Amino acid sequence: MKESVIAFYDDLADDYHLIFHDWNRAISNQGEVLSRLIRSKLADPHKEVTLLDCSCGIGTQAIGLANNGFRVTATDISPAAVDRAKKEAEAFGVAIHFGVADFRSLEKDISGEFDVVLSADNAIPHLLTDEDLYLAARNLYSKMNNEGVLLLTMRNYDELVKDKQSGTVPSVFNEGRRIVFQVWDWAEDFVTYTTNHFMMQEINGEWITKHVKTKYRALMRDELSQVLSAVGFVDIEWHMPPESGYYQPIVTARKKR
Ligand SMILES: C[S@@+](CC[C@H](N)C(=O)[O-])C[C@H]1O[C@@H](n2cnc3c(N)ncnc32)[C@H](O)[C@@H]1O
Repeated sequence: MKESVIAFYDDLADDYHLIFHDWNRAISNQGEVLSRLIRSKLADPHKEVTLLDCSCGIGTQAIGLANNGFRVTATDISPAAVDRAKKEAEAFGVAIHFGVADFRSLEKDISGEFDVVLSADNAIPHLLTDEDLYLAARNLYSKMNNEGVLLLTMRNYDELVKDKQSGTVPSVFNEGRRIVFQVWDWAEDFVTYTTNHFMMQEINGEWITKHVKTKYRALMRDELSQVLSAVGFVDIEWHMPPESGYYQPIVTARKKR
């Protein structure tokens, strides 16, 4: 089985919405919650705001934020996810400019600078080495305008490592006919783990199991803050779920003027 990040998300692109109880509702909830936080961070929240979602996947946040009035450019390393996101944006009737890009090479691959640069839902922890983290952070920085705000969201690894969590609790949808869960195989040092992602569905009376896997780094909040600070970000601030209303910790930061 291929384990690369691109293969993982290309394989999941057609089914990605099935990870959610109701993807349309997730688009609208996340759009509202992120929009509120972003506007609270902008010097002029009423102007038209340009936003780069650099790990858009099939478009959960990109579509939600376009629906909330942001001018969105959305990129991702997975061509299949971007293809699907384009179709979904069309179906939602929102204009989004799409591209395939690795967030480690945005400076070279994506033109322009943005008021907001976003990477949501644990994309950054796909980077396993410090070198890649610094490279990505420098590329994110290069895409921000001077008043710009960065937002990154990821799992709460500070807690997950403490608990040595071995996976996720199964989510049971569609009256028990769809079950989604992950099993995590940790490296001995608890710095990286392989996610085994399972989706089981009853289709025409038969149970079908889809299994894909990829590797993550259990990135601590302090580690990410240090990387952001080292490449020039300032006002680095963590927003935890009870405060933000978002389901993962979010870090916001600004470009030093
Ligand atoms: C868990 S998914 C989240 C997708 C989307 N933000 C959402 O919440 O529906 C993580 C996304 O990060 C993308 N990704 C991972 N590494 C990347 C990289 N180096 N550059 C750009 N995108 C990347 C994956 O292809 C995937 O679409």
